[in-house]
Amino acid sequence: MKPQESIPVRVAEIEPVTPLIKRFTLQHADGGALPRFSGGSHIVVEMQGHDRLHRNPYSLMSSPWDGDHYQIGVRRVDEGRGGSRHMHERVTVGSVLRVSAPVNLFPLLKTRRKHILIAGGIGITPFFSHLAELERLDAAYELHYAVRSQEHAGFAVELQRIAGSKLHLYVEEGGNQLDFATVLAGQPLGTDVYVCGPAGMIDAVRQAARAAGWSDGHVHWEQFLAPQPGVPFEAVLARSGITVQVGSEVSLLEAIEAAGVRAPYLCRGGACGQCELEVLETDGELLHRDHYLSAEERAGGRKLMPCVSRARCQRVVLAI
Ligand SMILES: Cc1cc2nc3c(=O)[nH]c(=O)nc-3n(C[C@H](O)[C@H](O)[C@H](O)COP(=O)(O)OP(=O)(O)OC[C@H]3O[C@@H](n4cnc5c(N)ncnc54)[C@H](O)[C@@H]3O)c2cc1C
Ligand code: FES
Repeated sequence: MKPQESIPVRVAEIEPVTPLIKRFTLQHADGGALPRFSGGSHIVVEMQGHDRLHRNPYSLMSSPWDGDHYQIGVRRVDEGRGGSRHMHERVTVGSVLRVSAPVNLFPLLKTRRKHILIAGGIGITPFFSHLAELERLDAAYELHYAVRSQEHAGFAVELQRIAGSKLHLYVEEGGNQLDFATVLAGQPLGTDVYVCGPAGMIDAVRQAARAAGWSDGHVHWEQFLAPQPGVPFEAVLARSGITVQVGSEVSLLEAIEAAGVRAPYLCRGGACGQCELEVLETDGELLHRDHYLSAEERAGGRKLMPCVSRARCQRVVLAI
């Protein structure tokens, strides 16, 4: 099955985990088995809002070996564009949604000697399926999980049950700060570190690893990047012969999709490279927000990742 062929799922259970996070259990709406996945995978959930179709990626928290259901944890983002609010306020037990097949951009390198997992807040979600794999392999690992306050530590009891003494919980309000240099110090050769959380945490872990002499190949990260608002512009889709207006609140990818043009994607978060478009012409500047293009590719001005990047211009012409 291709990632963009969607699967109908029925919401079987909704569990409030913290004041901001709900966990949703999804089963195949036709009663069949769901595609298997590997630890760190996400699905893209489609939600029909009152004025738009939201397509948001969410990491899978359930066991990779359980084809009976998927679980996702959704943090409500009140300042976002409504997808997570829709999940919290409109979706109920029995609701039917469509989801993509799982895609993994954050896999565990299972042959490594040891695994250090570092999560901040909602960034814990992809680690649940990693933990299932690590426990099954009886692999050496540590889980470092930072939350703002005790009320946001709703997953801690469950994580304690899974990881036992390998869980290190940091409640920032209690003055218990996670120090990345300390966590990375003295780890055996062949250890990899995985981080998922706010941008500042990811940057700090990468910097601490570099400072401690870790090579980039041993440092893995996933950021829950979303499209940011911007100034409206016009995009000419040269091959389709269509011109679309990209409003301030929609991404270029969403504007292309809304015009009925099929555009590829996997992550919708600037990481996978799948949505890359060739820029044929623009009268302004490209605003790159992805993690995929190199500095040279950005400077070249010929490539754009429409899931998170946009342009500050009157008009951009794209080869799609
Ligand atoms: C690979 C991947 C996995 C993910 N996994 C999870 C997960 O497991 N759980 C989870 O909760 N989320 C996850 N996300 C994030 C998720 O897809 C959504 O981005 C999130 O739920 C917010 O969606 P939204 O529609 O409410 O807001 P979005 O429109 O997606 O906005 C999110 C952010 O964009 C900014 N923003 C957007 N519009 C505005 C505006 N008008 N004004 C100001 N700021 C704005 C804000 O900073 C806001 O925090 C993941 C993302 C990726 C890329
Ligand atoms: S869909 Fe992955 S980078 Fe755009």
